[in-house]
Amino acid sequence: VTRVTVRRAGPADRDAVERVVSERWGTPSIVSRGAVHDAREAGAFVAERSGDLVGVATVVVDGDDVELLTLDALVEGAGVGTMLVDCVVQTAAAVGARRVVVCTTNDNEHAVAFYRRRGFEVCAVRRGAVDRARERKPEIPAIGRCGIPVHDEIEMELLLTGP
Ligand SMILES: CC(C)(COP(=O)(O)OP(=O)(O)OC[C@H]1O[C@@H](n2cnc3c(N)ncnc32)[C@H](O)[C@@H]1OP(=O)(O)O)[C@@H](O)C(=O)NCCC(=O)NCCS
Repeated sequence: VTRVTVRRAGPADRDAVERVVSERWGTPSIVSRGAVHDAREAGAFVAERSGDLVGVATVVVDGDDVELLTLDALVEGAGVGTMLVDCVVQTAAAVGARRVVVCTTNDNEHAVAFYRRRGFEVCAVRRGAVDRARERKPEIPAIGRCGIPVHDEIEMELLLTGP
């Protein structure tokens, strides 16, 4: 079994990060918490296995929060998502952030459970927020995972303890 490694993305990874985010989320613009973010301008972490890109996380700093904008494991169940989240949490703690936040949608029960198992808790549910986001980003599907209509944004947080 070849090990997965995670590192901060550099300028040479820019195109690959943009490609993954666009493929997985429709375009590089990510709407969350009422703001539109350009994933190309965000910080990013990449996971690799045998030289192949197997995962991408993008992050933005918002005051005391580090927001995980996107998380994508291109191979599932191999620890890629966990390693990327760990890396984001460690980096957030190192820069003195108060919490790591991540938004997902009401259809993505897999992601909610994944983050819960990693210590995140739901801190806000914004009903209709994804319907409003879809007006700005029509690529957001109306029907999401498991045939569930996508309407609401679910925000989760991991509080970081100070030094
Ligand atoms: C959510 C998502 C990022 C999870 O990524 P993943 O790489 O499959 O997650 P992991 O492999 O780290 O963990 C999944 C499970 O596999 C297990 N696992 C299997 N093989 C493993 C290995 N070699 N090392 C570590 N964990 C392993 C983990 O224990 C974990 O189980 P648990 O959650 O019950 O603890 C991934 O499903 C994904 O990309 N989803 C689509 C995009 C999305 O919804 N993103 C989140 C919203 S922004």
